[in-house]
Order: sequence, then C-alpha cells, then structure tokens
Amino acid sequence: MPATILGLGMALPKKVLTNFDLEKMVDTSDKWIFERTGIKERRVAENESCSDLGALALKNALIDADLSPEEVDALIVASGSPEMIFPSTACLIQEKLGLKKEILAFDLQAACSGFLYGLAVADALINSKAYKKVALVGAEKITAFVDWEDRNTCVLFGDGAGAAIIGSTPQAEFGLVSFSLYADGSKAPLLCIPAGGSGMPASPETIKNKKHFIQMQGREVFKLAVKNVASACQEVLKKAKLFPADVDFFLAHQANERIINAIASQLGLSAEKIVLNISRYGNTSAASIPIALTEIYNSGKLKKGSVILLAAFGSGLTWGAALLRWSKDFSRKVKNGERDAENQNN
Ligand code: ACO
Repeated sequence: MPATILGLGMALPKKVLTNFDLEKMVDTSDKWIFERTGIKERRVAENESCSDLGALALKNALIDADLSPEEVDALIVASGSPEMIFPSTACLIQEKLGLKKEILAFDLQAACSGFLYGLAVADALINSKAYKKVALVGAEKITAFVDWEDRNTCVLFGDGAGAAIIGSTPQAEFGLVSFSLYADGSKAPLLCIPAGGSGMPASPETIKNKKHFIQMQGREVFKLAVKNVASACQEVLKKAKLFPADVDFFLAHQANERIINAIASQLGLSAEKIVLNISRYGNTSAASIPIALTEIYNSGKLKKGSVILLAAFGSGLTWGAALLRWSKDFSRKVKNGERDAENQNN
C-alpha cells in the first residue's frame, strides 16, 4: 500500500504587493522583475502569522480529505521562516487546530526544499505503519526576513502556506513512486540568514549590519539549481522506469520562471506540462509546491493516474525531485463546483 496524498489545502495573506509597488521602494522596474523572474506580484503577511497561514492551509486540506483533526497522527511543518526558534511552528499549529496530544509534531528545516523533504519523511512514516495519517504543511512568512531596501532579494519572495494529508492507498500503482533528495553544506554561504541563531545572536551590531535578512548570491544559486535539479529529475524518472514523455505535470519550486524553464528544457519537457503560478505569488519557499499543487488540483486539471514530477532547491544547499502518480479523482471543491478566486488564471 503506497503512501499517497489524500487531501490538499492552501492559504494566502490578503495583502498583494505588486512590482509597481516595489518600483516606489527600490531602484527596480516591473519590466526587470518580470523578465528576469516571471513575478508580477506577491502576497505579504501583515496580521497573519506563519502558524495562522499553516493552520488555515491544513484545515482546508483536512476538509478536502474528509478527515477530522483528531485523525492526524503526525504533523510536519516545513518552513524557512518558523514563527520562533522554539517551540516549533508545528506545535503552534497543533494547538490552533486542536489536534490530539498523541501526535508527533515537529518542524523540518530544508528551506525551499522543505516540502519535498517532508514528503519523503511522511512516506517513510506511512510505510513504517506506525502512523496512518500524516499532515505535511509548508508555511512561510519569509518576507519577515527580507530587506526591503535590497533590490537583489526583496523582489523575489512572498508569503503563504500549503498543506497535504498523506496516507496510504490500496492501489499499488498510485501514490509516491520515487525520490532523489540531496544536500550540500559546502554551499551554505550562497544563501543564508546569518544572524538570529546561536551562531550570531541578535545584537545592536547584527541589526545595524542587516545580518537578520536573507543574503543570496543569486547567479550561483541559479546555475546550481538548473544543473542539480535536472539531474535529480532524471534520477526519479529512471527509478520509476518512466521517461519525460510520461510526465503530465512538471511542478518545480517557484523561485524563478527562467530556472523552471531551463530545467524543463534540459529534460525535454514541453511547455504545456510546466506548472507556473510564480507571477502571482513569487517565491513562497517551502509553501510554493503545495500551493501550486493545490491550485492545479482545485482547477480540475489533475486526473486519477496523472504523473507529477515535483522538484525543488533551496538554501543548504538542498535540492531534489519526487515522482507522484495522482490517486484521487477530483478535489472536494471541483466536485462541489466551487472555484477558488485564486485559480482564475489557471
Ligand atoms: N531590479 C533591477 N536591477 C536589478 C535587480 C532588480 N530588482 N536586482 C538585481 N539587479 C541588477 C544587478 O544589480 C545587476 O546589475 P549589474 O550588472 O550592474 O551588476 C543586474 O541586475 C544583473 O544581476 P544578476 O544577479 O546577474 O541577475 P540575474 O539575471 O542572475 O537575476 C536573480 C537575479 C533573479 C536573483 C537570479 O539570479 C535568481 O533567480 N537566482 C536564484 C534565486 C533562487 O532561486 N534562490 C533559491 C531559493 S530561495 C530559498 O531557499 C530561501
């Protein structure tokens, strides 16, 4: 009985920050941002916390899976912007949704690759047979770590959350088929938030020197992302004895449309297979894959048996790919004829 996704949900903050808004904040232009990244606008959490967004996404996923909160046995929250260093955002979400106490609840830190890492952990928990229903949330208030005076990074990121309920399916041909996940700590300095941890605790000096914000060598990350992710995608296909032509949807972490297109082109995937929503949300880190997955699911595009190639990369560096054969018919929303306002562009 393979592990599979039983339900999906998402949540977004209300505030929309457009490229034109950013033009008034830093020396940039809508043209530059859109041409270099594919982003037009992003959401920025104001009153919503990371756990508020995660809890709402999980609530929606539980409704979609037709499960009650008490049925969750384990909760994994992937986040690069947890609410606090401790307690975990997972414990905060557990409390907000009234999940039971006999539960494994923890945060997983793999930055933008967190949701894919979390899928692999959930897959292992389900296959261990010790846990029946695992809730996996990708939740980010990453804009809290953005320097709004740094045009190199502030145009890229956005907030949001997505969630999946992982359980098992009696249909052996469906569900999570293969994974290829990697980490390379030698590349840690390429993308980091230097201060605020035990290595460089907060001080007037760290604040003055802007050490609590995201620092990134974008060009280097770009090149490594294309090379490494394309190779991980080839590996998961090989493990599953499938070919690029068998893939129905290529859903990569939404960091930069040019990165996604370059990977797809290396794999020989045609444009209509590429899932893109970066124009509306920017890079929502660990939330980007579950948000995009929820959107194509709620738009009615995913069919039972659809082959989805998932791919991610992020700080660490971490990266990887996973192959999923969709095992559900339609989302609750599609069945009930409800359409998300968010899905109008899909
Ligand atoms: N507006 C206008 N000009 C800009 C902006 C901006 N917002 N940002 C940078 N520029 C300028 C630069 O200063 C540079 O000018 P110069 O040539 O005079 O020095 C020029 O544009 C080109 O800069 P590059 O960095 O070469 O631009 P590039 O085409 O590489 O795009 C980008 C930059 C978008 C950051 C790209 O490198 C990228 O997407 N990298 C990967 C980012 C990523 O995916 N991160 C991983 C996930 S995040 C996580 O894990 C938390």
